[in-house]
Amino acid sequence: MTRGFSLLADLKERIATRRARVMTVGLGYVGLPMALTVHEAGFDVLGLDIDSARVAAINAGERVISYFPEERIADAVASGRFAATDDAGRIAEADVILICVPTPLDAQRAPDLGHVTAAAGQIASRLRAGQLVILESTVWPGATAGVLRPILERSGLRAGADFFLGFSPEREDPGNPDYTTRTIPKVIGADDRASAELLELFYGTIVERTVPVSSTATAEAVKLAENSFRTVNIALVNEMKTAFEAMGVDVWEVIDAAATKPFGYMPFYPGPGIGGDCIPVSPAYLSWRAREVGVATPIIDLARSTNDTAPDAVAARVAAGLMRRSGVAIGEARLLVLGIAYKKDVEDTRESPALTALLRLEEMGARCDYHDPFFPVMPPTRDHPQMAGRRSVALTADGLAGYDAVVLLTDHTAVDYPLVAEHARLIFDARNGLARRGVAVDPGRLIKI
Ligand SMILES: NC(=O)c1ccc[n+]([C@@H]2O[C@H](COP(=O)([O-])OP(=O)(O)OC[C@H]3O[C@@H](n4cnc5c(N)ncnc54)[C@H](O)[C@@H]3O)[C@@H](O)[C@H]2O)c1
Repeated sequence: MTRGFSLLADLKERIATRRARVMTVGLGYVGLPMALTVHEAGFDVLGLDIDSARVAAINAGERVISYFPEERIADAVASGRFAATDDAGRIAEADVILICVPTPLDAQRAPDLGHVTAAAGQIASRLRAGQLVILESTVWPGATAGVLRPILERSGLRAGADFFLGFSPEREDPGNPDYTTRTIPKVIGADDRASAELLELFYGTIVERTVPVSSTATAEAVKLAENSFRTVNIALVNEMKTAFEAMGVDVWEVIDAAATKPFGYMPFYPGPGIGGDCIPVSPAYLSWRAREVGVATPIIDLARSTNDTAPDAVAARVAAGLMRRSGVAIGEARLLVLGIAYKKDVEDTRESPALTALLRLEEMGARCDYHDPFFPVMPPTRDHPQMAGRRSVALTADGLAGYDAVVLLTDHTAVDYPLVAEHARLIFDARNGLARRGVAVDPGRLIKI
């Protein structure tokens, strides 16, 4: 029996019997749900994160992700088979290592794999024969083989022979109650037979369905294809919103009716732009890599710039509507922004278009407050660090009536919309949030933007 074969057989046996110890590197919106799902499948799991405060909160059983069931983390910790650590030395204990670290854009809006290379360096210095390393962070096609693998092989060990390597994109949809990490099919890719077998076996014990593809690059491309599809369609629907509005047609009614077509149409909804760590980022990875290999992606690039300017368009529509309906100049206006998260029901402001729109309104001279039940205090963000520390105002009848207008940018479920509808002087709704909830407003006081 060759050494590679016995390493493979041993790890297979450990996975099949759930004796394999699993580590997730990164305990954020992707790594933590994955770590808990792996634990719930019967494995011992250790989560590694450089954020010691988050590690302590998780070990104390705190619900650090608001849409998790109340006791999910506490129960996992209490089982004694799940814990968090900030000690990278414990990488050596793991049989399977899942890398779930951020892959943002840098200041030039180019891919920043700094967290991946840092995590890879930490793993490489402790890598031992027989470990399986899987990258889950979004990267461009070729990055697992071209960036991650060479760093890991600095250990002197060879992928596919001494250790095993694969890529599996995360498809987390934060706050969506209809799908869990376990029920979302998992695309898996590897560049050698042994690694492919291990990925299939490992994820087969964790999720309901695996979707093997022929290589790590293909699996990486799947993620970029999914998110670029969304980016282009969101840009398209925002363009249609403006066009239909000029024709006196409500785009929301159009979408709801079009969505009854059982084939060839999928509804996307207008809004103030795109946010989060995923949809704005993946298409940038795709077009950046395409340029590197000499290919243009004009449709994706146009969609990206349309989406990037969506918050400006929303702010301009508020300014115009305010003057038209109330005769109030934006430079004199007092506004209440409802919702600063990048989408409803999550405590995440990364790349949030609501924050950008708020800033634009203030640049035009408006004085803005905000209300967001997820953010009593505005957190620091990379794009808008200067806004950190502001406080969410309470929603009261008197308070609402004191603003020239309320601007609904993110329609969290836990907001008292009938109160807003009753007391706001004017409402700008970027999400169709009131109509979708059946909250009636006198049409003279509502402008969909
Ligand atoms: N959030 C989503 O909805 C989503 C969905 C699909 C895919 N993704 C992708 O998943 C990846 C992770 O995203 P996320 O939303 O979980 O990010 P996140 O910022 O929520 O979490 C990442 C965690 O990794 C930690 N970290 C950073 N460097 C580390 C290191 N060297 N060692 C250990 N921990 C480290 C951070 O402290 C943080 O807690 C990204 O590539 C993202 O594009 C995100």
